[in-house]
Amino acid sequence: RKKVILDVDTGSDDAVALLLAILSGKLDILGVTVTWGNRCVEDCVANTLQVVELVDAGIPVYQGCPAAMVRELTPGRVANNPVNRISIVEDGVEYSIHPAKMPIPDAVGKPEPIHACTFLIDAVKKADSKVTLIPVGPATNIGMAFRMDPSIAENIEEVVFMGGAVNMGNATAVAEANFFHDPEAVKIVLDSGVKVRIVPLNATHSAMLTLEDADELIGLGTRAGKLAGDMVKTRAAASLRMGSTDGKAEPIHDALAVAWVLDEAVMLDARRQKCDIDISGGAADGQLIVDQRRGNDESSNTVVAYKADKDRFFAMLKEALARGPKI
Ligand code: BDR
Ligand code: CA
Repeated sequence: RKKVILDVDTGSDDAVALLLAILSGKLDILGVTVTWGNRCVEDCVANTLQVVELVDAGIPVYQGCPAAMVRELTPGRVANNPVNRISIVEDGVEYSIHPAKMPIPDAVGKPEPIHACTFLIDAVKKADSKVTLIPVGPATNIGMAFRMDPSIAENIEEVVFMGGAVNMGNATAVAEANFFHDPEAVKIVLDSGVKVRIVPLNATHSAMLTLEDADELIGLGTRAGKLAGDMVKTRAAASLRMGSTDGKAEPIHDALAVAWVLDEAVMLDARRQKCDIDISGGAADGQLIVDQRRGNDESSNTVVAYKADKDRFFAMLKEALARGPKI
């Protein structure tokens, strides 16, 4: 089984990604590190613990960094872009893409007493085979770990990001939220030379789950299926309220990164291309830059996914979420 560490900011789609990783039974999850992003890091830790305990996974959870490596220190950078709203309050009701608290029992456990970055470095260096990192939030913990000890690169199989967008964006017109929130951290990883695969919005938007899909997940009769289905519906309702979609289908971004680690064939179009990220603080701040010129790809350490196989993804999700505790 592949050794992996998931880095999450749970988060509705992070919750589904975690459930898929845990219940696939195909991954050796060394631990889950938690970053800030969808909510403050403390809320993201609490949500992550709830999800892990829901399916009795017994996987250690580590709290990581509370803010980006340098973003708030750079004049002119605005993290609170109004386009990137995650919730809206109407008549006292909060419609949120990412609930502050998962609609499942409170967690009993606590995060482990060491910092996520310390765990990450130790776990990667001690592992007897190479470790795959799956960051599906702002990449602060991963960038910080690479800064603290660049030698971890030697024992990393690859880093599979959910982040970035090619000719589209959600945090800004051209930048996706995870990459926008800590572009320096992403750049450190890209420049490290380690193997990287990127699941941008292009791929996640090509495999949206519908309200009918959500009902199918709930119909599995398991705790995991119910939470995942509820999360699809929560996201759809919030997106509709915020006017960003018609409320009928939602991308479950982070689960696609896990799906790609589990099965290469889940991406129908993936290209080896040189990548960079804009950190200059202008209109393209946080934008994933993909070199589309021919002949520039052979030496690249990065592969970018453009299109996913929705049916394959959904089948994989259903198979996994049918496992674990029943309702
Ligand atoms: C990404 O941003 C977060 O809101 C989601 O959890 C996902 O990781 C999508 O842009
Ligand atoms: Ca996320």
